[in-house]
Amino acid sequence: MARLKLGVLISGRGSNLQALIDAAADPAYPATIALVLSNKADAAGLQRAASAGIPTAVVDHRAHPGDKRAFEEAMDAELRRAGVELVCLAGFMRLLSDWFVERWRDRLINIHPSLLPSFKGLDTHARALAAGVRLHGCTVHVVRPAMDEGPIVVQAAVPVLPGDDEHTLAERVLAAEHRIYPLAVRLFADGRARVEGERVVIDGAAADAGSALVNPAR
Ligand code: GAR
Repeated sequence: MARLKLGVLISGRGSNLQALIDAAADPAYPATIALVLSNKADAAGLQRAASAGIPTAVVDHRAHPGDKRAFEEAMDAELRRAGVELVCLAGFMRLLSDWFVERWRDRLINIHPSLLPSFKGLDTHARALAAGVRLHGCTVHVVRPAMDEGPIVVQAAVPVLPGDDEHTLAERVLAAEHRIYPLAVRLFADGRARVEGERVVIDGAAADAGSALVNPAR
């Protein structure tokens, strides 16, 4: 069966991109990365893509000052040229407009380093520590126009341990991110994840014995 074509949008380090590259290196994985697109020419993730032989493109937001639409149209054109079917934001640090989000409606997912809807935005680990939560984690969700909102596909929780600082906590969460992003993409690629209104329904989730990561099917 044809593998789902991914476009991965990055702005920096690209460790989540690497997790997707590693997953897609298995020919049995149901998705393949057709394009890695960065808004920064010096994003380290571009090197990861190049090393894996994956096509890359840079659309620099600074080339379109004050014109977000032109920036997003340029990204959209690259994604379409590459035949992308699902867009994965992986540390992409520009807010997308309603236009772009609607253009890719239900075909645009993001990974965020918190258990949404808690701790939207930046500095999630420091804010989780300041709030004294005992559980923290990460979320893959379908993107909607409001920042860090949208139907939840997969979440993973990690404990907040005594003595944690934002770096130790970030490291624990990041390891979970690297597990759940490939899992979420697989659910879409297998046709098991469906957006119904503002929820994602996962077919056969009850059969995932031992996995508390996946939303139970309704
Ligand atoms: C990840 O922790 C990701 O969850 C976060 O940026 C980091 C990117 O790391 N994304 C956001 O905060 C988006 N709101 P990476 O480049 O190594 O994947």
